[in-house]
Amino acid sequence: MATEGRASILEAPGEAAVVREITVDPPGPGEVLVKLAASGVCHTDLTVKMLGGSGMKFPIVLGHEGAGHVEQVGEGVTHLKAGDPVVIAYRAPCEQCPACRRGDPRHCYMALRPGQRIHRKSDGELCSQVLRCGTFSTHTVVHGKAAIKIPAEMPLDKACLIACGVITGVGATMNTTPVFQGSRVAVIGCGGVGLSVIQGAKLQHARMIIGVDKNPVKLEWARKFGATHTVDASKGDPVAEVRKITEDGWDGGVEFAFEATGVPACTEQAVKMLSYGGRATTIGFPAETDTVHLNLGDFSTGVYWNKAGLNVCHCGDALPSHDFPLMAQLYLEGKLELDGMVTRRITLDDVEDAFHEMETGNVIRSVIVF
Ligand SMILES: NC(=O)c1ccc[n+]([C@@H]2O[C@H](COP(=O)([O-])OP(=O)(O)OC[C@H]3O[C@@H](n4cnc5c(N)ncnc54)[C@H](O)[C@@H]3O)[C@@H](O)[C@H]2O)c1
Ligand SMILES: [Zn+2]
Ligand SMILES: [Zn+2]
Repeated sequence: MATEGRASILEAPGEAAVVREITVDPPGPGEVLVKLAASGVCHTDLTVKMLGGSGMKFPIVLGHEGAGHVEQVGEGVTHLKAGDPVVIAYRAPCEQCPACRRGDPRHCYMALRPGQRIHRKSDGELCSQVLRCGTFSTHTVVHGKAAIKIPAEMPLDKACLIACGVITGVGATMNTTPVFQGSRVAVIGCGGVGLSVIQGAKLQHARMIIGVDKNPVKLEWARKFGATHTVDASKGDPVAEVRKITEDGWDGGVEFAFEATGVPACTEQAVKMLSYGGRATTIGFPAETDTVHLNLGDFSTGVYWNKAGLNVCHCGDALPSHDFPLMAQLYLEGKLELDGMVTRRITLDDVEDAFHEMETGNVIRSVIVF
């Protein structure tokens, strides 16, 4: 029998998200029906809206940072049962691509996807789900292996952040570009993802963590979450500032620079602020036409002479079945700060308001609580 619910949906390019009644088909084989408890609003949801659906077919159920309880399991699902608390992974390894087959699931080419099960109630139209999740919804159906069980004592309005912002940022420093003890780290963009990079760098025992943002409020938060230094990007060249802070008689620079803005120029800055042999990591979600210009030959900051590297982070190169419970454990042990990341608790009807707050900037994460 179908389940009735409500979801925040994009119905056409350029339109605002609207809440509509939905019906959700029962989970198919290998799938689970999840009743959402909470969903964070990540910048990628806003980007999907701003990019006219980013290639997805309308209508689109937004949201990909969700946690809730399993309501029903499909045929063949034996590792979960109704009532289990879960965080939804948007990149659960597919087990079939070349990376998965060579035993390297963190670099899976794709992700397990469920069938489309959510319909707009008014006309029965089948909805796309952002990143195979669709968590701005009272209910969703996801692949069984994308529903990751977490400890029962973990509050779900914090657990949801693990699904994207936290695992992307912390995972960037642990998996994508492992930060070594005693290193110097710069983080450009101190939103939900960037603050998680800062927390990850701290967990990895970096000795210097420089938060860079153009919003002074974010810089205050950066210090609270572990930055040892901050740079206001609205007041001059962040590359020069970072080199000044790190001056060591060898031209300064950081061993690791993470971009978490979605602004291509910030990826260029990340590469230029590296010390010799350093590694930049780009995390922000690009538009199809975005490009970066990397100089090869400059003696101080050119990619060749500075032996600079550039990595790309997709969801912290996470292995959700291992990493999500680990993040929950770190939170429960007081080593990962999630309480302070939830700066607004909202309802499903407030998604557009949360997007607006994100653009004005004085929010880390708005979390929809169902
Ligand atoms: N690669 C992935 O797996 C992945 C996962 C999650 C989010 N993302 C992307 O990461 C980016 C950050 O996401 P978020 O949720 O933290 O967004 P956010 O809006 O919370 O934070 C972005 C921050 O960047 C700052 N910023 C913007 N322009 C800047 C500039 N020129 N210089 C310095 N700071 C600047 C903003 O002030 C803000 O604090 C987005 O592009 C998002 O789509 C990627
Ligand atoms: Zn996200
Ligand atoms: Zn794979």
